Amino acid sequence: MTFMTEQKPVTDVNASPVSRAIPTLPDAQTVTSVRHYTDRLFAFRVTRPASLRFRSGEFVMIGLLGDNGKPLLRAYSIASPAWDDELEFYSIKVPDGPLTSRLQHIQPGDQIILRPKPVGTLVHDALLPGKRIYFFATGTGFAPFASLLREPQTFEDYDEIIITHTCREVAELTYGRELIEGLKADEMMIELLGEENLAKIKYYPTTTREESPKMGRITTLIENGELFADLGVPPLNPETDRAMVCGSLDFNKDIKALLEAAGLEEGANSDPKQFVIEKAFVG
Ligand SMILES: Cc1cc2nc3c(=O)[nH]c(=O)nc-3n(C[C@H](O)[C@H](O)[C@H](O)COP(=O)(O)OP(=O)(O)OC[C@H]3O[C@@H](n4cnc5c(N)ncnc54)[C@H](O)[C@@H]3O)c2cc1C
Ligand SMILES: NC(=O)c1ccc[n+]([C@@H]2O[C@H](COP(=O)([O-])OP(=O)(O)OC[C@H]3O[C@@H](n4cnc5c(N)ncnc54)[C@H](OP(=O)(O)O)[C@@H]3O)[C@@H](O)[C@H]2O)c1
Repeated sequence: MTFMTEQKPVTDVNASPVSRAIPTLPDAQTVTSVRHYTDRLFAFRVTRPASLRFRSGEFVMIGLLGDNGKPLLRAYSIASPAWDDELEFYSIKVPDGPLTSRLQHIQPGDQIILRPKPVGTLVHDALLPGKRIYFFATGTGFAPFASLLREPQTFEDYDEIIITHTCREVAELTYGRELIEGLKADEMMIELLGEENLAKIKYYPTTTREESPKMGRITTLIENGELFADLGVPPLNPETDRAMVCGSLDFNKDIKALLEAAGLEEGANSDPKQFVIEKAFVG
């Protein structure tokens, strides 16, 4: 599998290259494709270690060798589903970020470090059975849901799958929008997940700082009821609704308050309940 649309060339091919040809790199994996979406966002795919088993929605530590010769690692949600032969990641480019100021320059054939110890709470095991699942994402918090939206269990467990993605600007929605549109047009995905199952997905993109068909923070759209009215679904109900949340610390805190006000309780791997939360980044 590759990205759903044609791969664009890496934007800045003259930038200082990532350390290439480092066969002694511990836990090395090879980059197979890279696609840049904006000057702040890109996605890439790497080879998958034969021994790596993970649950869709989990994250791992990935990185590059630092200038001091030590691994420079950061947490990254695996954006590809557990059945995929390769691993996909969806990444921010922080201009002065120790890792991403360099990682953004990777090209096919380069190596990255991938510690094969997946963990995380955005997994089906951490939720009680329900009828409808909400995936609430902002920014790169879409990544774990890119995995779960391609995971057959998501469609087996729920009658309705609602994915909300809120970004400041329209272009920041592209990775998610193309992935969801691609699912419904891709023969292999239709065969794997089923056409009727794919029709369960309700995609709800919103922007906050650039004009788009639906504007506003998702928290506001929950509070004023617009989300439910737009989708034609009842308000949040702990009997039927489950939720997974991935965004900034403030976003997670605010959504958590709304979910709890509706009577949903936070679960964990060891104690499944009605919703789970993961940070999309720290700071
Ligand atoms: C559980 C978990 C999962 C994560 N999954 C992803 C992922 O799938 N994709 C991803 O791009 N990042 C993800 N991150 C963030 C990631 O670990 C790094 O912070 C990011 O790659 C930047 O690394 P850096 O060394 O360049 O800068 P850092 O020093 O790590 O970050 C510098 C600053 O940049 C901002 N920042 C960092 N990451 C982001 C982000 N993703 N979106 C917006 N602002 C950010 C914050 O203000 C932060 O303080 C995750 C973090 C956690 C805790
Ligand atoms: N995205 C950019 O264009 C951009 C450009 C340069 C630098 N940065 C920096 O990158 C960092 C992360 O930016 P980001 O845009 O990826 O993530 P972000 O600040 O978390 O914003 C992503 C989306 O989530 C919304 N949001 C944020 N907090 C929320 C809350 N408590 N409740 C509900 N919705 C909330 C934002 O709406 P609001 O717009 O209403 O906050 C925005 O639409 C920031 O430090 C920022 O300064 C971002």
